[in-house]
Amino acid sequence: MSHGTTPPSPLILVADGPLGGEARVPGDKSISHRAIMLSALAVGRSEIRGLLEGEDVLATAAAMRAMGATVERLGPGHWIVDGVGVGGLLQPQAALDMGNSGTSTRLLMGLVASHPVTATFTGDESLSRRPMGRVIEPLGRMGADITASPGGRLPLILRGAETPLPIRYRLPVASAQVKSAILLAGLNIGAETVVEEPVPTRDHSERMLKGFGADLSAEPLPEGGNRIAIRGWASLKPQALEVPGDPSSAGFPLVAALIVPGSDVLIRGVGQNPTRDGLVRVLSMMGADIELLDPREVGGEPVADIRVRHSALRGIEVPPEVAPSMIDEYPILFVAAALAEGRTVMRGIEELRVKESDRIAAMAAGLRAAGVQVEELPDGLIVNGSGGGPVAGGATVATHLDHRIAMSFAVLSLVSRRPVKVDDRAPIATSFPDFLPLMQRLGAREGQSHEA
Ligand code: S3P
Repeated sequence: MSHGTTPPSPLILVADGPLGGEARVPGDKSISHRAIMLSALAVGRSEIRGLLEGEDVLATAAAMRAMGATVERLGPGHWIVDGVGVGGLLQPQAALDMGNSGTSTRLLMGLVASHPVTATFTGDESLSRRPMGRVIEPLGRMGADITASPGGRLPLILRGAETPLPIRYRLPVASAQVKSAILLAGLNIGAETVVEEPVPTRDHSERMLKGFGADLSAEPLPEGGNRIAIRGWASLKPQALEVPGDPSSAGFPLVAALIVPGSDVLIRGVGQNPTRDGLVRVLSMMGADIELLDPREVGGEPVADIRVRHSALRGIEVPPEVAPSMIDEYPILFVAAALAEGRTVMRGIEELRVKESDRIAAMAAGLRAAGVQVEELPDGLIVNGSGGGPVAGGATVATHLDHRIAMSFAVLSLVSRRPVKVDDRAPIATSFPDFLPLMQRLGAREGQSHEA
């Protein structure tokens, strides 16, 4: 899990012709984390199918085990969890290693904050650079005592409150992780905790908390955004959960099919939650031929199959309001923009600078190295597209321990005159362990170093 200490394993992806066929992407990462956490807090045995078995989710599973839950794998994506009940978390005997996962860290900090246990959170180099002040501040108000490394970073020690306090909190940044941390802390408080989000962010925590029987209500605010209230101490009832396919992971084969000439691909079972569907909306505005087929519900979430065909894309000004619904998809949108006709302007996305890497800087550097004209802005990126023809390529790009940077450039390589070499494939395993075999099934192949 500690990438950065093992020797890097480069990746080159090549397409000799169109991509075609069907694929199923792995389970949603956000939902998988929440499924393990809430199952671990229920009283009794929950069963989860379609769980993402990426390293980030495995870090969450290990942490819940360390705090007393039984978390077991029965088969591919099929897990059972015996919960300890709200208030029942045990003192972990060793530091909780969060690996590369910001979601595990922030959500678990919320859980621990209202339990009388002390936990040390550690992570890899990328996670240790990321800001935790955004959760330290509200959880501190709830009574948790947190000693962080300089800059509010990992490693940190969190002493949960003996008598946690309910708060009313308006989020200063649009962050589902911060919202969820506060709501999860509120689970073990016998009064009402309220979070207001000025713009809607992914609502998987709200949906799943309700599904488990928590006393939670969410309503839109007149000025926009939502007010979410949770009254703790409800007993959570174990569930049988099915995790839909991850729309963020689907973004990679989806854009690959859009930009490789002649492609026609069907991606099955992809989550369509309106707080996550920004990429499909924006690509459609750019002229993408994307059809949503057989809309249905899986595990309380809307799902559809996505048929995508190679399309001539046009550059647009991407409305900044769409950002929270596709925040993790900008790196792959930059790649789509690199093949579009004209300029694509993406602003209001400064949050990308504090993800697994500074995604604006990392993508700008790699795109430039591959011959794409870009202009980096403090809060975004402008990409001048090729108009559909291949980009120059022939570069090695740095992934900075960031799975989405690695997969984005692997996709760009498919439409490069000379392949793009991704310096390290290891981070891909955090969210999409089967990325390479899936792309191979669609017709891509792994290139050799001499081709780069
Ligand atoms: C996530 C929320 C997003 C997203 C992350 C997963 C979640 O982060 O970038 O990959 O599961 O809640 P923020 O809400 O902090 O922006």
